Amino acid sequence: MTERSLAEPRKLIFAANWKMNHGPAEARRFAEKFLALTAPAENRNLWFFPPAVSIGALCQAMGNRPDVRVGAQNVHWETKGAFTGELAIPMMVEVGAQVVLVGHSERRYLFGETDEQVARKTTAALGAGVTPLVCLGETLTEREGGRTEHVIVRQVGAVLQALEPSDWARVVLAYEPVWAIGTGKNATPDDAAQVHELIRMELGRHSVTARVPILYGGSVNTGNVASLLTRPQLDGVLVGGASLDPNGWADLLEKGSNAKVRPSGWHGTIDG
Ligand code: PGA
Repeated sequence: MTERSLAEPRKLIFAANWKMNHGPAEARRFAEKFLALTAPAENRNLWFFPPAVSIGALCQAMGNRPDVRVGAQNVHWETKGAFTGELAIPMMVEVGAQVVLVGHSERRYLFGETDEQVARKTTAALGAGVTPLVCLGETLTEREGGRTEHVIVRQVGAVLQALEPSDWARVVLAYEPVWAIGTGKNATPDDAAQVHELIRMELGRHSVTARVPILYGGSVNTGNVASLLTRPQLDGVLVGGASLDPNGWADLLEKGSNAKVRPSGWHGTIDG
């Protein structure tokens, strides 16, 4: 990814997190159907995070679609060594990964990943020339206890501490409230926009001048994607369940891309 400036026109990012679904054969079948249903569009990039064993198959099956990037759902920060069961970033790159998901809430809360580990993975991805998509988000208890801001500032703070301000030109963030993931409860466009602004303020306070794309994730579907993306604060979506079926995913992309949004410039503008 090249360096971004504030004036540069922005593309929406539609990221599909397949989690532990779609092995290599299923990934190939998905790609075949999906390619027949969609064409590259000027205003969007499509990122796919299949299980690691399907990265190579999906890259091959997607051929040379210029709008598609395939990535890893998780990586280790070391490049090799005695880490049974882990996968290193250069290995992911070797099979075609160009992006990596870091700090997804399922990694944080089901597998005990800490803020510090998230920061190390982010740094390692950048060092390997891979774009990290770093996830942030509060749990329901944290939200109900009025701690959303505190948690988000802490999570983004760990990454801010590890990176130089200039590194942020190659980072993408996702705000994914944990209570909205896979629950059918999505944040309202207002809730999402508010936290996106908070994150942006925090970046600004730490001298980050790059216009870091911030995606929203958590029960995004064909019914709510357009209303979310009309918010200029949102630069795209990170989608789990609704990205698994090629027809549904193609439909979601259309609805999202046609939302009345101009994802360009610092403030964004909404067409009338
Ligand atoms: P969901 O998952 O769309 O199924 O809520 C989103 C995510 O976990 O990235």
